[in-house]
Amino acid sequence: MEIKVGFIGCGGIANAHMMRLSQIEGVVFAGMCDIVEEKAREAAEKYGGNVYTDYREMLEKEKIDCCFICVPPFCHEGQELLCIEKNIPFFVEKPVHLDLQKAEEIAEKVKEKNLITSVGYVLRYFDVVDKLKEILKNEQPAIIRGRYYGQVPGEGKGWYSKKGKSGGQLVEQATHIVDMMRYLVGEIEEIYGYKFEGINREIYEGYNVEDASTLVMKFENGIIGNLTCTWLWKGYESEVEIVGKKIMINYRINQVVVDRICRKETYISEVDPMLEEDRSFIKAVYENNPKLIKSDYCDGVKTLRVTLKAHECFEKGVVVKLK
Ligand SMILES: NC(=O)c1ccc[n+]([C@@H]2O[C@H](COP(=O)([O-])OP(=O)(O)OC[C@H]3O[C@@H](n4cnc5c(N)ncnc54)[C@H](O)[C@@H]3O)[C@@H](O)[C@H]2O)c1
Repeated sequence: MEIKVGFIGCGGIANAHMMRLSQIEGVVFAGMCDIVEEKAREAAEKYGGNVYTDYREMLEKEKIDCCFICVPPFCHEGQELLCIEKNIPFFVEKPVHLDLQKAEEIAEKVKEKNLITSVGYVLRYFDVVDKLKEILKNEQPAIIRGRYYGQVPGEGKGWYSKKGKSGGQLVEQATHIVDMMRYLVGEIEEIYGYKFEGINREIYEGYNVEDASTLVMKFENGIIGNLTCTWLWKGYESEVEIVGKKIMINYRINQVVVDRICRKETYISEVDPMLEEDRSFIKAVYENNPKLIKSDYCDGVKTLRVTLKAHECFEKGVVVKLK
């Protein structure tokens, strides 16, 4: 097997993928593209491939089998559409876009071409999440509760704390928990929410996103839930809790605890989920088998829709129906 890979964006997360891909048999790095030439050059020196500063030129010159799009949320400016036009399967980091309409147009084109795509909702690739889904098949949950507490990335410098660049904490980071809630119990039908702001913008120059937010959710299957997020905490903490009759399940990154009142079981993951995610994508491309992908582009857009529509609740004070 040989799979030629191209990268658009050679920053932090791209390097995390390159490191994993270099462990997968058959992967060959063909092109490294970043608008900052030095970053593309450093990646090429370490992993191989030709250096580019324009993704259009890379996609024109290199015969690649798939492309990794690892740019910040505000930098999606046609990379996906060009991959689709050239029938190149792509992996794209979350959140897939900041413009819902454009993301939905891309999703339509992906569907038309039946193209293999994958989105970086990496938590889905923990083995304990498979276990949790297995357990849920025999349970009837009533409540799901999510939490994402962290600190402002990069001490408020850079693009994370600018609304027009990251979309804010919910769209950019807590998206992982929204996605996990959908993955575990199904589609969200209706949301309402509030945001809190004012503390971080006094501390960090140019900070213009929420400090905290909370959402109330009704799922299509009748399950009710909520999510609370903040960038006022330190480090990162996240969890999802699910409650049904005489069962409470707590999921935290690589750990699942199932409490059945008289019996408590703990499952701890033994896998590197990003390696699993990359392996699945490469295999899916090689075998042309979309079933190996746990979050494709169209699914990633559904998570994006929840987080962007939440801002309609915050701004307009209305309940938003997602269908
Ligand atoms: N799945 C995860 O757990 C996870 C973790 C971290 C980051 N991410 C996501 O990955 C994305 C990128 O984050 P990052 O931390 O790597 O950011 P980063 O700023 O470290 O790197 C992004 C790179 O993209 C480059 N870039 C921007 N526009 C470009 C263009 N048009 N063509 C080529 N290169 C371009 C920038 O120069 C930069 O080097 C974000 O959407 C982020 O949410 C996901």
